[in-house]
Amino acid sequence: MVKHRESRPGQKSAGGLGAKPRRDMPGKPSAKPAHASRPAKPLRDAKPPRDHGERVAEPRAAAPAAAAPERPLIARTGERPPERVPVILESLGAGDFHLIDSGNGLKLEQYGPYRIVRPEAQALWPPSLAAHIWDNADAIFTGDTDEDGMGRWRFPREALGETWPLQLLGVDFLGRFTAFRHVGVFPEQIVHWAWMKEQVEAAKRPLKVLNLFGYTGVASLVAAAAGAEVTHVDASKKAIGWARENQALGRMEKLPIRWICEDAMKFILREERRGNKYDIILTDPPKFGRGPNGEVWHLFEHLPLMLDICREILSPKALGLVLTAYSIRASFYSIHELMRETMRGAGGVVESGELVIREAGLDGRTPGRALSTSLFSRWVPK
Ligand SMILES: C[S@@+](CC[C@H](N)C(=O)[O-])C[C@H]1O[C@@H](n2cnc3c(N)ncnc32)[C@H](O)[C@@H]1O
Repeated sequence: MVKHRESRPGQKSAGGLGAKPRRDMPGKPSAKPAHASRPAKPLRDAKPPRDHGERVAEPRAAAPAAAAPERPLIARTGERPPERVPVILESLGAGDFHLIDSGNGLKLEQYGPYRIVRPEAQALWPPSLAAHIWDNADAIFTGDTDEDGMGRWRFPREALGETWPLQLLGVDFLGRFTAFRHVGVFPEQIVHWAWMKEQVEAAKRPLKVLNLFGYTGVASLVAAAAGAEVTHVDASKKAIGWARENQALGRMEKLPIRWICEDAMKFILREERRGNKYDIILTDPPKFGRGPNGEVWHLFEHLPLMLDICREILSPKALGLVLTAYSIRASFYSIHELMRETMRGAGGVVESGELVIREAGLDGRTPGRALSTSLFSRWVPK
């Protein structure tokens, strides 16, 4: 049972409802400047890019990284889909996870049997719970407080193993103490995963789901368990290995999941050339990343082309294109308007805002303050 609700303050509508869908031909040159075909350049606030599977290094002039093949953006015509903004998708936790408390730049979370303390730059307020509760946590991450920063785990009560079993939305997987403070799952995504599960279960056909930047595969397992045929793409061999371990843990080996270790952009370009289509696409790109052959991913450079290609590989009866963006200096409006431009003429609606986790206290049921975790934008057909 997912404890979440959607709030849509200031719901607005614009653009032409029911506009006739029009799909431009892939590869058709754009009338607009095709900025996505420019070579990726480091951003001003660039730091060494990291991903959640393995550490990756910033491209250096001396050793240019392999460039992913690109194409110009397609000139989109037709009305921009109507909008719903802001949409705050809020969760009070689900399955084995909830946020207990937050404050003083930290968060205290429950992951199954363990209470875990990690840095949380947005928690500017004081904690609600007493210091001895925080001090008594099972695992504390210390080190670089920056998102994805390196550091190490301290276990104040007793030494813990690297992994432990967890469950979310009926799917088993392993929690994992990683060197980059992550724990093998991004539970704030459960609102999207629960939405996807509903779509898959309600469809009267096996839906094809594409999970880009899929990490340890929890979303892929949720989709497959609900009845979808899933394609999971991640650049990290290690993350794909963990995803396969998760599949085995839940005895889900027979479910139709293709685990693909590849650069996400390269993969979707190939799918576009082959004419392969998907009913639901989830894309959760990091700010920086690297493909397995050194292909560089810079969100601000490559997102327009990524969404452009994703639109081309949505099936005619597609049910959604869901984008989340973490730790970027941007408003949700930047991905919202990009999504609306990309989906011009497709009808449907684009809704965007933030994914938020609400503190749930020690018992997991006492609502406290809201902690924003990421921006999102999704196109849905209605
Ligand atoms: C934010 S995490 C995704 C989290 C995941 N969606 C979830 O909720 O569990 C980013 C993932 O992107 C992967 N990645 C980074 N650069 C990539 C690239 N160029 N192509 C494919 N995957 C990439 C990393 O290996 C990492 O697993």
